[in-house]
Amino acid sequence: MANLVITIDGPAASGKSTAARLLAKELKAIFLDTGAMYRAVTLAAMQAEADMNDEDELFDTLDATEFKFVAEEDRMIVYIDGKDVTERIREPEITANSKYIASAPKLRDRLVEMQRQFAADEEKIVTEGRDQGTVAFANADIKFFLVADVAERARRRQAELQDKGVEENLEQIQDAIEQRDKSDQARRVGPLKPADDAIVVDTTDLSIEEVVEKLLSCVEENV
Ligand code: DC
Repeated sequence: MANLVITIDGPAASGKSTAARLLAKELKAIFLDTGAMYRAVTLAAMQAEADMNDEDELFDTLDATEFKFVAEEDRMIVYIDGKDVTERIREPEITANSKYIASAPKLRDRLVEMQRQFAADEEKIVTEGRDQGTVAFANADIKFFLVADVAERARRRQAELQDKGVEENLEQIQDAIEQRDKSDQARRVGPLKPADDAIVVDTTDLSIEEVVEKLLSCVEENV
């Protein structure tokens, strides 16, 4: 197990990815994007044309695929059977289909195992997702849970898409985020919720720099 484990959980577009990445950089820690793991398994299942509602079939696909997650400075490169899919797993159809993987208990167990293995090899780790503080790293040194108003999260997601040259309607983005919130919170295994000992940070009115500053000061106080 790493010497320092910091978990950052929260709903879609709450700013946790960017915050986790920047915090890891400040602390010279490795950043683990566990959403990218769910996305990679989703893509592998789609490529194998697996039945998304058949947990055993999904698990077999996971087993038959070679996944590689490489921490590179402040980002994570994802390979499926040797092919770099880092960009591909960000596409909207992967986002939409990831709920099947996220709600399959056997797959979650395996992914949590992979996350712990990843952390075991590192000195310091900042890991982000939905269940990092509650399930994967219940003994983490510091746990954060980021929240933000859904309208603000939709606005941030729209700006992110615009940066990539993609125009999407704000209402549709907000609807999709609300649906993901529901599915993340409602699943039986690894649901989205703050750990009892998590520090909850509302990022609605904060810039990303302010969020990182706040997290850093909590780390300094608590470690
Ligand atoms: O954070 P993200 O949008 O990249 O997550 C992709 C999907 O994976 C989303 O459906 C939530 C799910 N997920 C999860 O269930 N548990 C995690 N620890 C990380 C992500």
